Amino acid sequence: MAHASDLIATDIDEYLTSHQYKSLLRFITCGSVDDGKSTLIGRLLYESHLVFEDHLAQLAADSAKVGTQGTDLDFALLLDGLTAEREQGITIDVAYRFFSTERRKFIVADTPGHEQYTRNMVTGASTADAAVLMVDARKGVLTQTRRHSYLVSLLGIKHVAVAVNKMDLVDYSHEIYDAICAEFLDFAGRIGIDHVTFIPVSALKGDNITEPSGHTPWYHGPTLMGHLETVPVDDEATSSPFRMPVQWVNRPSHDFRGFSGRVVGGTVKPGDPVRVLPAGTTSTVERIVTMDGDLHEAVAGQSVTLTLSDEIDASRGDLICAADSPAEVADQFEAHVVWMHEDEMLPGRPYLMKIGTRTVGVTIAHPKYRVDVNTLDHLAAHTLALNEIGVCNLSLDRAIPFDPYSTNRDTGGFVIIDKLTQNTVGAGLLHFALRRSHNIHWQDVRVDKGARAELNGQQPGVVWFTGLSGSGKSTIADIVEAKLHADGVRTYLLDGDNVRHGLNRDLGFTDADRVENIRRIAEVSALMVDAGIVVVVSFISPFRAERQLARDRVEDGEFIEVHVDTPLEVAEERDPKGLYAKARAGELANFTGIDSPYEPPEAPEVRVNTSVMSAEGAAEAVVEALRMRGIIG
Ligand code: ADX
Repeated sequence: MAHASDLIATDIDEYLTSHQYKSLLRFITCGSVDDGKSTLIGRLLYESHLVFEDHLAQLAADSAKVGTQGTDLDFALLLDGLTAEREQGITIDVAYRFFSTERRKFIVADTPGHEQYTRNMVTGASTADAAVLMVDARKGVLTQTRRHSYLVSLLGIKHVAVAVNKMDLVDYSHEIYDAICAEFLDFAGRIGIDHVTFIPVSALKGDNITEPSGHTPWYHGPTLMGHLETVPVDDEATSSPFRMPVQWVNRPSHDFRGFSGRVVGGTVKPGDPVRVLPAGTTSTVERIVTMDGDLHEAVAGQSVTLTLSDEIDASRGDLICAADSPAEVADQFEAHVVWMHEDEMLPGRPYLMKIGTRTVGVTIAHPKYRVDVNTLDHLAAHTLALNEIGVCNLSLDRAIPFDPYSTNRDTGGFVIIDKLTQNTVGAGLLHFALRRSHNIHWQDVRVDKGARAELNGQQPGVVWFTGLSGSGKSTIADIVEAKLHADGVRTYLLDGDNVRHGLNRDLGFTDADRVENIRRIAEVSALMVDAGIVVVVSFISPFRAERQLARDRVEDGEFIEVHVDTPLEVAEERDPKGLYAKARAGELANFTGIDSPYEPPEAPEVRVNTSVMSAEGAAEAVVEALRMRGIIG
């Protein structure tokens, strides 16, 4: 067969046709900083003749000028050049490179080996079919190698190759190579990597990259390129049960309704019975519509529009499944969570979870354990910091269809998004639904909120005071409760200092503890509203997300947020408990306003500033607001 680059010149149609039918392999390369990863990728690009001529000229010039390889081409420089181009405008540190040989097309995710490794690897590896782990023959299996291998195994990459690199620097020693293979195999067995292909290479000299090397006569396996060209692709995705998350409902006219999306598991044909989750309705596939006409069959990886034989309801985020092996539906899970943000995970905080095309609310419980990815030990943990991996229970605000990640990466993998900033802060893999998902039901009771409120002769509600320590919250809240009580309103006052003596005595003042403090108070307030009471709450409650959580737990109009907007200087000047002085002296850590943040409300129902108002006047303003909103008569 003519070489690809000749074919481009002589018969472009033939070239394009052969190109179109080649399979595509996505793979990831992992290695520590000096293992020669850049050189290897540069070499693969070079050997596949897809390096453009102007890049080559530049490379020769750069190699001569700053290269580390004498008069040879320095492939690491080639990659640096491409990286600079590719990195403009991309935020995640993963560069995807494309190359092809006569047999296959490749997309390689190059993940930098520095301390952001976990985030980058998860990003790069989530769609990879195969991984190439680089080991420096002089150094053997390092901590980093183990860490990368663990992630590769966790992310479900089945085809693992270990490129034992820099063989030229150990005189192509068979013994050294064998020792490295044995050491790696031992570790691989412990993390569930069953099958590994070892290849002795020199990325720099080109040994066993595309041509078998004369320096390693004792090696009879494939070259690295040969391995990559023959690794089986996507066998699992197409043999698993049919899954298609609905991306949008395609309704160009009254007589056509199709569900569009990407098939993420199995195959589908007209006539196949399907089940739409979470509702569970069933129907039959009528047509598989694409831009290029109807298909007889669609397989994992293809984007299509399905029409069904019944007028059933399905919307964005729903999952169309094979009727006889549908996904599960649940709202509580155990999952592996990988944290990807500088701000640590806050157990109990409401986050968003994006799984497939569906976004739902989620809270994450304290980790059951954190994994030390170097030793595989399970460590006790209260939270997860940047790049840490743990096993946690998740609680969703509604039930979703899912598969365990080990059966389907698309329906079992998810990302966690911060509600306020919309940043992606974590990623994870669902293991299984917790049994309480199915076994805890809502018990209907005869006496409800309305009945209780009527007996009390009042409208229930939450009057939520937020503000700095020493701002005057508790003083004003106390006066407000006294006024309501005098008017015959049934009330209860929840005050931060007091509740921290009982219900919340186990909590301190870290961000995570404050989140849990307010989460519990939000729940208690909601119960009290359900009891038909006006509950007055006085907590610093420094974070918007948890105040929003408290608001969301009751009905519209039942939540009155009062920002006691006393400036820090004034609160500090008063210092009623001497705590600001202690914090300034360094004797009290995490003090709000000093070394712990306060996020002021953006649109509170009431705002009072005690540096210009008396406590009595502020309380009167609050009572007036309650009157206006119909909470009191
Ligand atoms: S919150 O931030 O979790 O809402 P909360 O209102 O329960 O705080 O408790 C605040 C009270 O705890 C303050 O009024 C103060 O008396 C006391 N306290 C002790 N240590 C701290 C601290 N590090 N930061 C803020 N308040 C503290």
